[in-house]
Amino acid sequence: MAEIALGITGGISAYKAVEIARALQQAGHAVTAVMTRSARRFITPLTLEAITGREVVTDLWSPGRNVDIEHIALASRIDLLIVAPATANTIARFAQGHADDFLTAMFLATRAPVVLAPAMNSQMYTHPAVTHNLALLRERGAVIVDPGSGYLACGWVGQGRLAELDQILAAVGDALRGPASPLAGRRVLVTAGPTYEDIDPVRFIGNRASGRMGFAVAAEAVRRGARVTVISGPSRVPAPSGTEVVPVRSAADMHAAVLARAGDADVVIMAAAVADYTLDPAAQKIAKADGPLVLTLRRTRDILADVGALPSRAHGHPVLVGFAAETHDLLAHARGKLERKKADLIVANDVSRTDAGFDVDQNAVTLISANDVIDVPLQPKAQVARAILDRIERLLPAASHA
Ligand code: CTP
Repeated sequence: MAEIALGITGGISAYKAVEIARALQQAGHAVTAVMTRSARRFITPLTLEAITGREVVTDLWSPGRNVDIEHIALASRIDLLIVAPATANTIARFAQGHADDFLTAMFLATRAPVVLAPAMNSQMYTHPAVTHNLALLRERGAVIVDPGSGYLACGWVGQGRLAELDQILAAVGDALRGPASPLAGRRVLVTAGPTYEDIDPVRFIGNRASGRMGFAVAAEAVRRGARVTVISGPSRVPAPSGTEVVPVRSAADMHAAVLARAGDADVVIMAAAVADYTLDPAAQKIAKADGPLVLTLRRTRDILADVGALPSRAHGHPVLVGFAAETHDLLAHARGKLERKKADLIVANDVSRTDAGFDVDQNAVTLISANDVIDVPLQPKAQVARAILDRIERLLPAASHA
């Protein structure tokens, strides 16, 4: 299921947006309608609200909207923006980069795929200004669903009427799937969440990891067609659908689960916050005594380093990605881990920030490989996951040829 923004602009075929919204919902997607001022002359927001079951966005300036800068929030949440019908005016404003209403501002702000279904009089459609603007938008990555030919509302016969519903749906489906990812069909192993090291039958040593970052990476890998196994420590958040989930508890359990599967994987992504120390749990609950309680901890085995030491890693197989939680000297520490653990990529997290990292929905990371350093600014974890997998995709071919 995808989160889709349906932009509706002021053409006579605006009424067809109702059918598009319904069809998208029937295909399992969640739709938020965004209407321009002229669209509202042709069809009421109430109709779209009833169909989508969501508030219809009509204004950049409604009270309350700017609390979370709604056009930016929606722009970063959506998986796709479709504008149907797209008038010559909106197409021109997109091409020019105007941002004077919600739809144009969101168009600039989103990095999701954009599908435009133009509809207008045939003379307008074939005017060089429109042809040029459409070519420009296509060149910048927008998918244009060409209008059909026939009788137009204005009485003319020619090309300009909104494409048929099934063509629009097919374009949406293709754009959502995106170009075939090099991860399609590959086996991806992701570790996520904390580990719990038992002290006795009721107590344990754990940490604040929620599993969200690893799950976001796993969900994005599924979206790209990979066969994904998630080895998850105890997490309150459910693992994403479409993955095989292997629940584990301790660092030792996770070590065994990962090492048993790493040889068959094309990519291993270690997002789990694994305990560095463990202990032999007491068989019975430890009763309190007057003096201090001393627990002797011993080092756990480093799972990432053990995968890094697999013989196949000499040929770069599997591609190995570690996470690093740092509070200071992030780059230097992460580089050290890259070398020590023989990983291809370290995703470094600054856990001293309160707005990113553990147990929140967004993150800011730095991707460190032997050749480059990429800063991924603060954004929802789903988008950080995309940036991580984009980078991993570029590591894949070299590693898999060997
Ligand atoms: N990791 C692991 N096995 C462990 C500990 C950590 O596989 N026993 C992995 C984590 O999943 C993560 C990476 O190693 O991908 C980095 O973990 P971190 O604890 O930040 O690094 P350390 O090397 O333990 O460094 P330090 O504690 O010195 O910061």
